Amino acid sequence: MIEQRTKLIHAFGALADLGQEVANKNNFQETIRTSLHLISGSLAIMRGGVARYSRFGHELNMLAIRGLGDEFPLSLSLCMEDERQFLANGLSPIETAHAKVLPFFQVYDRSFDSRRIELFLPLVIRDEIVGAVFLGEKATGEPYTSYEKEIICAMGRHIGVAISQRNLMAEIERHAEENRKLFNDLRTTYNDTVKAFATAIDCKDKYTEGHSVRVGRFSEIIAAELEWGIEEVEGAATAGYLHDVGKLTVERKIINAPYRINAKESAELNRHPGVGFEILQPIHHPYADVPLAAKCHHERLDGRGYPDGLYDREIPYIAKIVNLADSFDAMTTDRPYKARRMATEVIEDMQRNAGKQFAPELVTAFLRGMLKELTGDAKDKRFRRLLGREYMETDNLVPVIRKTLNEMRPTTPLTYIATN
Ligand SMILES: [Fe+2]
Ligand SMILES: [Fe+2]
Repeated sequence: MIEQRTKLIHAFGALADLGQEVANKNNFQETIRTSLHLISGSLAIMRGGVARYSRFGHELNMLAIRGLGDEFPLSLSLCMEDERQFLANGLSPIETAHAKVLPFFQVYDRSFDSRRIELFLPLVIRDEIVGAVFLGEKATGEPYTSYEKEIICAMGRHIGVAISQRNLMAEIERHAEENRKLFNDLRTTYNDTVKAFATAIDCKDKYTEGHSVRVGRFSEIIAAELEWGIEEVEGAATAGYLHDVGKLTVERKIINAPYRINAKESAELNRHPGVGFEILQPIHHPYADVPLAAKCHHERLDGRGYPDGLYDREIPYIAKIVNLADSFDAMTTDRPYKARRMATEVIEDMQRNAGKQFAPELVTAFLRGMLKELTGDAKDKRFRRLLGREYMETDNLVPVIRKTLNEMRPTTPLTYIATN
């Protein structure tokens, strides 16, 4: 009686340990090895093994073995009949001596006999075979009691759940990986489409060739200087690439007019932000409000912009970025009626208009990016590539930027500074 009670306490202790081991699933292999150790230890079993079932290969692959030697197969295949029978049997131990009718026990008869495997426990969890436990004879040589079989069942359930959880995790990881790949493909497609569109927009305007692409790049630089995340920087670039998409509906002769256009033509041209918004609105843009950037990229902080004459806080931040990038490009490229302006002059203009047209902190961010490149603090030559080496190597550009940066008012985002 006392011996019985000791055994019971021992078995329950092992069961609790096993539960904890499974819950603490840091190392799956280790969990399985410990499980086998706990079963054989608590019931004084000489040999055993735990296998995981591969439903694709229809085989039991050993995860942990104890005392089975080199001869015992590490992978045991199951036929349809075996699977059917094990499923019907459920999670309860099969005595190998009485199961010789099944193909599985006939095929592996010799291996089982030589290692004296007495019990085979199919791990059936939620109507699925996830693995199996093989158990050899007990140290005492006595047959397994029904009480011991129950303990084995309870322990087997823990192991089965651990394997099942592991399978589930692998499945989730596989799906996540697939989704990641799919998402990256979509992202590449989206970005390529955006760039193709920018090129198409630029084709219409022969004088400002490459304008949209450059505005995309400048917007990207500003967002990066603001230390936005990779995806938000990508969103800012997209907003820049597509800001003038509405120009696709404006007559070519107005866009390409080699003279200052009249009021009527100007009104026609000024429709492009609204049209751009209409074009972009039905598309889902993941990282930035690209349609709003198109709609508001000609708005100014002082309310003198178009189409809606919005004031500072009413203008979406992304539109402020695109506005600065857009204006910078307009000033630094040759127009039919106006040659590009000197870099130092452009910087002075940006400073003068900070707080009126441009958000001051964006001017600061932009100039900081430029200065970093000129002083060699930034590795890539973004400005040089976009504006040409000569243009960027004006003698006093660095001191002018430094002076401007010193003079720029410290501002917080979205704060309108009235300068007059
Ligand atoms: Fe525009
Ligand atoms: Fe533009």
